[in-house]
Amino acid sequence: MKKILLTGGTGYIGSHVCIELLNKGYEVIIIDNLSNSSIKVLDCIKKITGIKPIFYDKDIRDKAALLKIFNKYSIDIVIHFAGLKSLTESINEPVNYYDNNITGTISLLAIMTQVNCHSIVFSSSATVYGKAKHIPIRENSPLSASSPYGQSKLFIERLLQDLYTSDDKWNIAILRYFNPAGAHESGLIGESPNGIPNNLFPYVAKVANGSHKRLLIFGNDYDTHDGTGVRDYIHVVDLAKGHLKALENIGTFKKVLVLNLGTGQGYSVLDIVKAFEAASKQKIPYEIVERREGDVSECYADPSLAFELLNWKAEFNLSQICNDAWNWENKSSKDYDI
Ligand code: NAD
Ligand code: UFG
Repeated sequence: MKKILLTGGTGYIGSHVCIELLNKGYEVIIIDNLSNSSIKVLDCIKKITGIKPIFYDKDIRDKAALLKIFNKYSIDIVIHFAGLKSLTESINEPVNYYDNNITGTISLLAIMTQVNCHSIVFSSSATVYGKAKHIPIRENSPLSASSPYGQSKLFIERLLQDLYTSDDKWNIAILRYFNPAGAHESGLIGESPNGIPNNLFPYVAKVANGSHKRLLIFGNDYDTHDGTGVRDYIHVVDLAKGHLKALENIGTFKKVLVLNLGTGQGYSVLDIVKAFEAASKQKIPYEIVERREGDVSECYADPSLAFELLNWKAEFNLSQICNDAWNWENKSSKDYDI
C-alpha cells in the first residue's frame, strides 16, 4: 500500500485525514513540529483506527531531517498541511508567516525533488479569492490576498504551477478549503486552537459550555439575509474524504488540479448560533459589535468541479457539524489545551 507523508499531520485537518488514510490501509508518516497541535492526538488516532501513525517531531524547514525521513520510507505522496493559519496573526507577524509557510514549502519541495518524490496535495484556502465578485465561487474566479497568510497561499499555488511547468512528471493537487468545522464522531479528535479562538465554531462551542460569556458577532449590516457574514462550513470528515479522492486520482489530469472543497451552501453567523443552540441545548448569548477588518460579506463555494472530476461532494449537514463539534467540546477538547 502507498506510503503517505503528512506534514502538519497532528493538526486539526491532518489528524482527520490520517484516520481516513489508515482506515483505507495506507501507511502514514507524520512530520509536525507541534507548534499548534498536541502529541496526544496520536493515541487518539490509535484508539479510533487501531494504528498509531509513525511520527517525527520535526520542522519542515529542517532539510536534513526531511531528507532522512524521505530516504527511510520512500514516500509515494505528500499531503502538505503544515503551516500557520491565522489571518489576523499573519498581519502582525508577517516574517514568521512567510518564513514558516513559504520557506517551509520550498524546503519540502527541494527535498522531494532531490529524492524523486513528485506527488503532492496542498492545503490552500478560499482566502485566495479575496473579495469575490461572483458567488458561489468557482475555481477560475480572480485571485487576490488581503493578508500575509493569504499571500503565502497564493505564492505557494504559483510555485506549484511553476514546478509543473518546469517538469510535467509532477502530480499536483491544490485543494482550496472553505470553512472546516465539526469533529470526528468519536469526539476524540477535533479543533483545539491555542488561547482564545479566532474562528467562529470553536468560539461558539466555548460560549455554549460556559467558558466564554458571549459571542461577539462582527457586524450585522452586511448585504446578507440577516446582515451577518455568510460562510461555507464544511464538516472536517467530508474535507478529509476529499483528500482521499484527490490522492486516488492524482496524476490522471495532466495539469495541476485545483479544486474547491466546500458544500456550496452558505450560512450566516446567526444561522450558526441557532444551529449550535439546537445541538447543545444551551443558550448562546451574543453581542453585535463592529465588523472585523478584512472580513468579506459572503463566501461560499461552487463545489461542482470536485464532483465532476473526483465524484466527491460533502455529505454532512449543518446540524451534524454542530452535533460533532459539541460532542468534541464536551468529551475531549479541554484535554488538548496546548
Ligand atoms: P493546524 O494548525 O491545526 O495544523 C497545522 C499543523 O502544522 C499543526 O499541527 C502545526 O503544529 C504544524 N506546523 C506548522 N508549521 C510547521 C512547520 N514549519 N513544520 C512542521 N509542522 C508545522 O491547522 P489546520 O486547520 O489543520 O490547517 C491545515 C492546513 O489547512 C494549513 O495549511 C491551513 O492554512 C489550511 N487551511 C485551514 C483552514 C481552516 O480554517 N482550518 C482553512 C483553509 C486552509
Ligand atoms: N465571526 C464572528 N465572531 C467571531 C468569529 C467569527 O462574528 O468570534 C464571524 C466572522 O465575521 C465571519 C464568520 O464568523 O463572518 C466566520 O469567521 P471565521 O473566523 O470562523 O472564518 P473566516 O471565514 O473569517 O476564515 C476562515 C479561516 C481562514 C480561511 C477562510 C477560508 O480562518 O484561514 O476561513 O477558508 F482562509
